[in-house]
Amino acid sequence: MYVVFARKYRPQRFEDIVGQDHIAKTLQNTIKSGRVAHAYLFCGSRGVGKTTVARILAKALNCKEGPTPRPCCQCESCLRIATGDDLDVIEIDGASNRLVQDVEVLRNNARLVPARSRFKVYYIDEVHMLSGHAFNALLKTLEEPPEHVKFIFSTTDPQKLPETVKSRCQRFDFRRISDADIVGYLEEICRKEDLQVEGGALGVIARAARGSMRDALGTLDQLAAFGNEVHMQDVLAMLGAVDRQVLSRIVDALSQEDTAAALAGVHEALFAGTDVEDFADQLSQYLRDLLVAAYCGEDDPMLAGAMADTETLKRQCRIFAPDQLIYMIQLLREAKLRARRDTTGRIALELAIIKMSRLSELAPVQEALRELAGSGGAATGRRASGAPQERGPNPGPALRRMTEKLEKAKRRPVQAPKQPDLPEGIGQDRYRQIMACAESPEAAQDALAEGPLMKAFAEADKALGLNPVRLEKRVSREKQEEPGEEEETIEDEND
Ligand SMILES: Nc1ncnc2c1ncn2[C@@H]1O[C@H](COP(=O)(O)OP(=O)(O)O)[C@@H](O)[C@H]1O
Ligand SMILES: [Mg+2]
Ligand SMILES: [Zn+2]
Repeated sequence: MYVVFARKYRPQRFEDIVGQDHIAKTLQNTIKSGRVAHAYLFCGSRGVGKTTVARILAKALNCKEGPTPRPCCQCESCLRIATGDDLDVIEIDGASNRLVQDVEVLRNNARLVPARSRFKVYYIDEVHMLSGHAFNALLKTLEEPPEHVKFIFSTTDPQKLPETVKSRCQRFDFRRISDADIVGYLEEICRKEDLQVEGGALGVIARAARGSMRDALGTLDQLAAFGNEVHMQDVLAMLGAVDRQVLSRIVDALSQEDTAAALAGVHEALFAGTDVEDFADQLSQYLRDLLVAAYCGEDDPMLAGAMADTETLKRQCRIFAPDQLIYMIQLLREAKLRARRDTTGRIALELAIIKMSRLSELAPVQEALRELAGSGGAATGRRASGAPQERGPNPGPALRRMTEKLEKAKRRPVQAPKQPDLPEGIGQDRYRQIMACAESPEAAQDALAEGPLMKAFAEADKALGLNPVRLEKRVSREKQEEPGEEEETIEDEND
């Protein structure tokens, strides 16, 4: 009899569960210390191991050798629980037993001692589907559960659960399983099943599964039906994914600002049956991979499901600046949203692609302004063929003001000098006078003319670390004076 991979490879012990270490460890410790709660709530999306962990927990509690963090998997209890037909481990589907009568039956059954095990374990899947009355009935049982009863609830939608139920359970949040973890698990299965899989194909399967091990195993299962060799083309066809060669070609076209080639690539993908939103998603994913590769390196585990191979990632991630990649991803996002709203999605997508193929027009603002302001006209960035020519040399006054502001901002010191303490022996007035020297030669002249100020000036200058030195020098030169002793010290300090 053929058993699907998802069943055949359901983990049988806590150690075998992938990607939920935090939960497996905690549960094992609870069992070791004998502090198992009456009710657990398992939250998480589908196919991440909720039912699997519930069964392992039930085995751990009821194993002949137990309660033990490592069930034997050989005794009658373990074997029956593994196949889901143990009399004392009752699996209930919340979606099809949602009525109050069902819960009443459960309550009455719960009162009876287990048929042959230590505990009666009730596993209620999709518990949020129960009706309000059914919940109330359940709560009564939860309030005073018989010693021999354990509840495990699971839900994909914890928000829909009443607080009263949540507060009576110990909650575990199951994570989506990472692409790298899924690939690792699939590799193991391929070895056991003697499946030859083309490089990168498992990554594509993992990514399409979006964290669900069940989905990933399901895809692999279907592919295995074709034979012992699994090719990338089959994987892509099965998942409705855009051919990665096409994506790679589009990205190259974008980098070369070859709008025509980029549009042709899009056409090819859409013609092959990918819809606009899917295409936008997949190209975004591709660009996201380049972004991650640029920051973290092309062999980072975050790239386990990357569509492009390592060589391509390495090459393409250097063509674009991160800002350009971010901008392109944003354009695709907008196109996708627009595509969802109206029927001209394809046009929105194509417009985005056209913009993406003209990235060099996105010169930094300053550069663009300078160019527009007509200060020379020598274009700095590459220019796309057929890009509209820049305007005449006469920029509007607003534009000129903006350019000037930017220029000024560039000249501004990075750090404003902090207000220093007044040096000893210098009063507020004199301080202000000294400061004024920094502003204008006239003020400096006046100050110096005062004679006695000269020494104070030099001292203050030293203490304040100000710039009037140069002013003073100019003033001194004008006055044809020999530079004073103090001045020299100042000069040393400032040079
Ligand atoms: N964390 C996991 N580690 C290994 N395999 C898993 C994991 N989660 C799910 N699976 C696989 O997917 C199948 C379905 O998982 P299941 O526990 O029923 O998911 P859920 O109850 O969360 O929807 C299992 O039989 C197993 O083969
Ligand atoms: Mg389940
Ligand atoms: Zn056992």
